[in-house]
Amino acid sequence: MSQRGRFITLEGGEGVGKSTNLALVADWLETRGIEVVRTREPGGTARTEAIRDLLLDPDVAEPLDDDAELLLVFAARAQHLASKIRPALARGAWVVCDRFTDATFAYQGGGRGIAASRISALEAFVQQGLQPDLTLLLDMPMQAAQRRLQGRLEHNGAQRDRFERERGEFFEAVRRAYLDRAASAPERIAVIDASADLATVQHRLLAHLETRVAAWR
Ligand SMILES: Nc1ncnc2c1ncn2[C@@H]1O[C@H](COP(=O)(O)OP(=O)(O)OP(=O)(O)O)[C@@H](O)[C@H]1O
Ligand SMILES: [Mg+2]
Repeated sequence: MSQRGRFITLEGGEGVGKSTNLALVADWLETRGIEVVRTREPGGTARTEAIRDLLLDPDVAEPLDDDAELLLVFAARAQHLASKIRPALARGAWVVCDRFTDATFAYQGGGRGIAASRISALEAFVQQGLQPDLTLLLDMPMQAAQRRLQGRLEHNGAQRDRFERERGEFFEAVRRAYLDRAASAPERIAVIDASADLATVQHRLLAHLETRVAAWR
């Protein structure tokens, strides 16, 4: 019988390099012969990507209620866990996910101001004790990350989504909530200074990953 796979998440604010580094982590694991499932939240499956579209839609005609936002995030998570994450882990594949519940504590908790106790209650209800085995939190000052994002927006010509339209204080609160979360779970969450050039960040990240993976195997 195959052993349950490992669950690794990448976290951090907008533009810190989550997607860029997810590819690095997944490739690194695959070259070691591990089956990797790459995914993201909110989203990751056909149904949950539809929920993602609802969450990111910048239409202001009917503002999205904060509690509705929180419940949509967890509705998407329940479906993502049931149809993709749990089956993958059960067959022994490793799952590498761009954002997970730490992002909910950061955005809906820190950013929107929803009490952490309410988020924890939904976390317990939906996850039934499942937690990532390792979370790589990419941390850097918000303004520098915004500059990176600006470069990407200009490159893609993309519109800002509902979150990208938020103000500076929102993102400062998101960053603080992420760091608080890391301080409360240092055995799971590795904080990586993401402000350096990409090669340096990737070197730091792989150092954490290598140590963890060696300890698991
Ligand atoms: N260490 C780095 N130094 C400079 N630029 C970087 C670095 N890491 C990523 N970038 C660039 O910054 C931009 C944002 O990176 P990326 O899309 O990976 O961030 P993200 O955290 O996934 O953003 P989002 O939250 O919007 O999904 C990209 O153009 C990427 O190439
Ligand atoms: Mg991304």
